[in-house]
Amino acid sequence: MKVLVLGGGGREHAVVWKLLQSPRVTEVVCAPGNGGISQETRCVGVDLGDLEAMIRLVQAESPDLTVVGPELPLSLGLVDRLNALGLRAFGPTKAAARLESSKSFAKSFMQRTGIPTAAYALCTSLDEVRDQLRSFSVPVVVKADGLAAGKGVVICETHREAEMAAAQMFSGVLLGSAVDEIVLEEFLTGEELSFFALCDGKTAVPLAAAQDHKRVGEGDTGPNTGGMGAYSTDALMPPAMQEWLTANVAQVVVREMDREGTPFTGILFCGIMMVPDARGPILGRHGAVRPMVLEFNTRFGDPETQAIVMRLETDLLEMFESAIDGTADRLTIKLRPGAAACVIAASGGYPGKYDMGKVVTGVPSPTSNAALKVFHSGTALDKSGSLRTAGGRVLAVTATASGGLKEALAAAYAALDQIRFDGMQFRRDIGWHAL
Ligand code: AMP
Ligand code: GLY
Repeated sequence: MKVLVLGGGGREHAVVWKLLQSPRVTEVVCAPGNGGISQETRCVGVDLGDLEAMIRLVQAESPDLTVVGPELPLSLGLVDRLNALGLRAFGPTKAAARLESSKSFAKSFMQRTGIPTAAYALCTSLDEVRDQLRSFSVPVVVKADGLAAGKGVVICETHREAEMAAAQMFSGVLLGSAVDEIVLEEFLTGEELSFFALCDGKTAVPLAAAQDHKRVGEGDTGPNTGGMGAYSTDALMPPAMQEWLTANVAQVVVREMDREGTPFTGILFCGIMMVPDARGPILGRHGAVRPMVLEFNTRFGDPETQAIVMRLETDLLEMFESAIDGTADRLTIKLRPGAAACVIAASGGYPGKYDMGKVVTGVPSPTSNAALKVFHSGTALDKSGSLRTAGGRVLAVTATASGGLKEALAAAYAALDQIRFDGMQFRRDIGWHAL
């Protein structure tokens, strides 16, 4: 079976790597891929923002299955178009992907379906923002509607600051283009958790939980990034919590999206805040918590996926096919016990301005250690075949250990210590909440 994977980050490297282990997969093609993926399988160039170009590519490659990695092609309706052509694709339709592509849709959906989320107000003008702010205490969260690659959320310490952030979103100064709608949101505190479920339109099957590290600096300081590291352990999601999140969040999403005529097929990524609350419904690491949904994404997380696939025992192709065929209710997704951890090596300056084209050395060869894998995010091979940086996040150094998180982290950091490129930065405290 031939599979085409769309995307070119660490998440797609992880998906490609896992698919290549599937007994029924004979060929994997990745578009556009990156330097690391191209060392393992064939890559072809494509612009992930160009719907027609992607459709032409799928028709030319004629795979048995297309897997869409990032949110942009999903929000453009790539899966709808491929389905209309009779081509099999994994991922939600454009209407279902609004759970991620429109924060105002997601918030209204959660409100009308009773999914726990922070109190909010939708505003379409600055006057409305000023008016609505009166019912919010500080800090208050200001969010732009639409995809903004993590840059559309500002946590404001004063109402004045919130008004300025909203003004900059409406005018286009903050994000490069003007937004029509803004969500004001109550500020929540607690530990964050990324919960993933595989959905087939009717059923949500729990996959895994992971914790991301969004801030660039150690101790969760500095600006937000795409994610500087992640880990997945058994302790992160005890059975009672998995059952609660599946029943009260993921399965509600799938049931209600189906009822509204926009069934959800693909990976549902629930960004959860575990708010400490003595009367909360479940026990967290430090006492009772009330899980609240911060956001939905309609795809795998990056870098959470790199950690999760290292623990995944279930065949990834089987997962994708069962979601498309509506048979996920018969699937149990199995993870190896223990832990996996992923540490991102990023370019100096990221998430601000950074240079590219730096030579990367010290990446261990893929076959030397089965418990360690260096997934590539922003890399490219130059004409002479040497590896160069080509993005903000460069490598996702990932290790798994049956002994637990400390052991997995030690293995990832030991590998990272051998890797060099000019300006390389990484966080030394991945997993600190758990240790
Ligand atoms: P989002 O894109 O909505 O997940 O927001 C990105 C990040 O902003 C989240 O991962 C949180 O760290 C933070 N955030 C978003 N909404 C809230 C909120 N209501 N309270 C506190 N932090 C938030
Ligand atoms: N790691 C967060 C995301 O993929 O959106």
